[in-house]
Amino acid sequence: MAQKDVGNKVPIYKLKETKEVMDFYDEWGLDNKYDKDMVEWNYTGPKETAEVFNKHQKEKDINIYDAGCGTGLVGVELKKYGFTNFFGADLSQKLLDLVPNNLYKKLDKVDLNKPIKEKDDQYDALMCVGTFTFGHVKPPALDEFIRITKNKGLICFTINEGIYEEYGFDKKIKQLKNENKWKEIEFFKSDYIASKDVNAWLGLYEVTK
Ligand SMILES: C[S@@+](CC[C@H](N)C(=O)[O-])C[C@H]1O[C@@H](n2cnc3c(N)ncnc32)[C@H](O)[C@@H]1O
Repeated sequence: MAQKDVGNKVPIYKLKETKEVMDFYDEWGLDNKYDKDMVEWNYTGPKETAEVFNKHQKEKDINIYDAGCGTGLVGVELKKYGFTNFFGADLSQKLLDLVPNNLYKKLDKVDLNKPIKEKDDQYDALMCVGTFTFGHVKPPALDEFIRITKNKGLICFTINEGIYEEYGFDKKIKQLKNENKWKEIEFFKSDYIASKDVNAWLGLYEVTK
């Protein structure tokens, strides 16, 4: 798969280390440039995932963990469907500082490649949008996502098509299915950043542990 991607000054696919990723996003947040670029590029990840999530999640008063929430674009989209209880986690404090006031109940600076400091079965559902991409969060995070999500809870995510196989997300998803940790509800190629010819797999899985 060609390393098609986008970024701020340098393309995202050049990022390797966690510190590089953090600095990259901290800088991208300056003058709200991240949000401005997402509008300009017609980044549809948050909108597409919120739509799919809403289709399968009828109860609105649930606690949703937003893994790699950035500036809160997923919360903004989910709120349009009536969801209100968001708990955000991200590596970039600068992006967390740009989340609209009172949109999220809690915002934590977290490295999702490490064990997440949350109890087992803490959340009713989990979203992870735009965060499985080059140099960002790796497949083992899915074990943690399942651990902190309640049984029968939904996990909705995107995976940049350029790393899906290269990083082993294909194998990890299959392994979790084979181990009956989750059940596939939706899985398809989404638009994501179609204006830049970058697409992503969009998955919605029900935890069955
Ligand atoms: C493309 S942005 C997506 C942000 C948001 N979910 C959205 O859709 O606008 C990717 C996010 O992943 C975060 N990120 C990258 N590596 C991370 C890590 N190891 N732990 C937590 N967050 C990380 C970045 O800080 C950034 O906010």
